[in-house]
Amino acid sequence: MESPLCVSIFLVLCVFIQSSAHGQSLGLGPFGRRPRAAETKKASQETEIRFLLFQEETDKGCQIRLNHPDTLQQCGFNSSLPLVMIIHGWSVDGFLEDWIWQMVAALKSGLAQPVNVGLADWLTLAYHHYTMAVHNTRLVGREVAALIRWLEESVQFSRSNVHLIGYSLGAHVAGFAGSYIGGKHKIGRITGLDAAGPLFEGSSPSDRLSPDDANFVDAIHTFTREHMGLSVGIKQPIAHYDFYPNGGYFQPGCHFLQLYKHISKHGLNAITQTIKCSHERSVHLFIDSLLHASMQSTAYQCSDMGTFSQGLCLSCKKGHCNTLGYHVRQEWQGKKSKKLFLATRAQSPFKVYHYQFKIQFINQLEKPVEPTFTMTLLGTKEENQKITITLDQEITSNKTYSFLITLDLDIGELVMIKFKWENGAVWTNVWNTVQTIIPWSRRPLYSGLVAKTIRVKAGETQQRMTFCSENTDGLQLQPTQEKTFVRCNRNSKKLKGNIR
Ligand SMILES: *[C@@H]1O[C@H](CO)[C@@H](O)[C@H](O)[C@H]1NC(C)=O
Ligand SMILES: *[C@@H]1O[C@H](CO)[C@@H](O)[C@H](O)[C@H]1NC(C)=O
Repeated sequence: MESPLCVSIFLVLCVFIQSSAHGQSLGLGPFGRRPRAAETKKASQETEIRFLLFQEETDKGCQIRLNHPDTLQQCGFNSSLPLVMIIHGWSVDGFLEDWIWQMVAALKSGLAQPVNVGLADWLTLAYHHYTMAVHNTRLVGREVAALIRWLEESVQFSRSNVHLIGYSLGAHVAGFAGSYIGGKHKIGRITGLDAAGPLFEGSSPSDRLSPDDANFVDAIHTFTREHMGLSVGIKQPIAHYDFYPNGGYFQPGCHFLQLYKHISKHGLNAITQTIKCSHERSVHLFIDSLLHASMQSTAYQCSDMGTFSQGLCLSCKKGHCNTLGYHVRQEWQGKKSKKLFLATRAQSPFKVYHYQFKIQFINQLEKPVEPTFTMTLLGTKEENQKITITLDQEITSNKTYSFLITLDLDIGELVMIKFKWENGAVWTNVWNTVQTIIPWSRRPLYSGLVAKTIRVKAGETQQRMTFCSENTDGLQLQPTQEKTFVRCNRNSKKLKGNIR
């Protein structure tokens, strides 16, 4: 994000959103696609918002029309199955985006129980200046609510069987549908995928998607990094469970250096792809949860990403963790939103395995120690290649350090850790000095640097383990020398006795 190219592309995005917000026109040239003329015809709302149903994975959609029950039959609506309706967001080019077809296909193929898959196509109302499109979200929400009420009346379809999935502005459309539907009961579920931030951040719950809008609301926040006081995705919690992958600011693989890779794949559209990358990641994380039934990502309740990165939040007690995506556990207590964090890979399958490592160091050197290590983790299934760890502070005295490690692979149960202290050139000199000054025979109990125990908690299995040095004569870590740690009992007496 530091290079001038990145900054300038980001400015384009921000200026675009801001000028749109002020109702000024801005050329779409930089976005690589020729805009289609806005359709400003005074058509009835019914033709401005199209509801499509998909019968097959590769279907282009069959339009259902309010008050025309025959269209339900024609489009294969099955009232004994749930309805999952996709709602797209703001449009910069007047076309339906590719992810919609991917989501339709995933919903059609990825579920054990079939569902009716629908789309609320409000392109003609979304392809406007941002403020106009925002204004239209209420109107579209009202229409979605009307459709659901009509389904209740005409085919006794229960609104609790409706799941709205809204992306960007579409998330707020879903919220408005939930609040405009009226009556005693609520819509079953709403999923907000990186709900739009500008003009919604900080607004009252009735003016945006909120937990009041459905029996269960979940949200995935993926692009909340602020630029010039504005973030594309909303930052504040808006659901019962709010998921913040990688902290929610920005997503791995979306750096502007990736632009060149995207150009070879998408041509000039690469710029749009790169800008949208983090925003749209919310969609792909959700699609991933449909396609990889055996690789569901777990997220953990935490106050912020800093705490999460220390590995301090990997608890599943009292509903403190949940599954990201379609298969989220739909339970919650109270009105308060829960903020959940997780790390992900840069591409599908996005799942990683989370571990908290706690290492107790005893440093009896006069000098602070450079905190760079490598570890190789051996599990019952796999061995993980070297991981480099740099603690955020130098090791100065006796202290336990806690940090988060994530693995792409399922290594099974962790059985052995090979630990190596990577030295800088400076360190080697210090070490040599220490060796010379302190005669071997009169060395203190702990001399040099000792890693006493390594305690590990696996988030995905909730297992806790303690590891001790395999070789108990000489616990000192020596630069560049690999030490092997094996499972042991915490506070093992044997360990203490052998410390000399
Ligand atoms: C509707 O779905 C149910 C449950 O899967 C199935 O038994 C039934 O045959 C379906 N009806 C039609 C008309 O496809
Ligand atoms: C660190 O621990 C060792 C052994 O337990 C002890 O001798 C030493 O005084 C401690 N150092 C500090 C700075 O607490």
